[in-house]
Amino acid sequence: MMPRVILHNSISLDGSLTGFEPHMELHYRLVGSYKPDAHLIGSHTITTGIELYEDGVPEEHASDFKKSKRSRSLPLWVIIDTRGALQGVLHTCRRFELCRDVILLVSERTPSGYLQYLSERNYTYHVVGRNHVDLKQALLLLSETYQIKTIVTDTGRILGNLLIEHGFVEEISLLVHPVIVGGASYPIFSEVKILQRLQLKKFERLEEHYLWLVYHVQKE
Ligand SMILES: NC(=O)c1ccc[n+]([C@@H]2O[C@H](COP(=O)([O-])OP(=O)(O)OC[C@H]3O[C@@H](n4cnc5c(N)ncnc54)[C@H](OP(=O)(O)O)[C@@H]3O)[C@@H](O)[C@H]2O)c1
Repeated sequence: MMPRVILHNSISLDGSLTGFEPHMELHYRLVGSYKPDAHLIGSHTITTGIELYEDGVPEEHASDFKKSKRSRSLPLWVIIDTRGALQGVLHTCRRFELCRDVILLVSERTPSGYLQYLSERNYTYHVVGRNHVDLKQALLLLSETYQIKTIVTDTGRILGNLLIEHGFVEEISLLVHPVIVGGASYPIFSEVKILQRLQLKKFERLEEHYLWLVYHVQKE
C-alpha cells in the first residue's frame, strides 16, 4: 500500500521557499503534529541545510560508523542521493537527535565509491531505479520494508514538485511567514506542470503573524 505523503514547507507570503529565515521551532512543531514514520528529503535540501545551519562539517568519530539506537517513536530520515552528493557529510544527519536512523535511496548509476562509503558506515541503502530514484517504487518499498504509513516531506522545490506531479502527495501543509521575498524568490510550485485542484482542510493563525494552511490534493 502506498504511504500517505504530506508535503510540509515554510514559505514567504509570496510563496518563496528561500530568501528568509524560517521559524524552525514552529516548522518542526507542525511536522511533529503529523507523527510521521519518516521524512523524505532530497540531497540538495541536506547540503543547503548543512551550509545554512551547521558551523562546518565536523570530523567523523568512531560512533559515526554505527547505527544510532534511538527511540522507535522517532521518524526515519529517508534521503534520495543517487550521485553521492552527501559523501563525507552524512554523519551530520545521523547525529541529529530527532532522527531515528538515516536510510538512503540510490540508483543503478550511483558511484560505487559512495556505496562503499555507506556500507563502511552501516547506512542502509536501497537501489530503486536506473538513473534517478523511481519514486513510486521507493514509496512502496518504504511501506513494505519499514511499515511506513505516514511520510512528511519537508524538502525543496525539485523533489516536492515531482511528488505532487506524480500524484503522490495527499496533503500540502504550508507555514506562511510574514515576509515578502520579492525578486529573489524561489517559488514553491513553479515546476509543477499539471493543474492541481485542492480543498482547504484547515487554516490557523499561529504566534500572531504566521498562518498554517493545510490543503487536500484532489485526485483526478
Ligand atoms: N522553506 C522550506 O520549507 C524548505 C524546505 C526544504 C528545502 N528548502 C530549500 O530548498 C532548496 C533545496 O531544494 P531543491 O529544490 O534544490 O532540491 P530538493 O527538493 O532537495 O530535491 C533534490 C532531490 O531530488 C531528486 N531528484 C531530482 N530529479 C529527480 C527525478 N526525476 N526523480 C526522482 N528524484 C529526483 C534528486 O536526486 P538525485 O540528484 O540524487 O538523483 C535530489 O535528491 C534549498 O535552497 C533549501 O533551503 C526550503
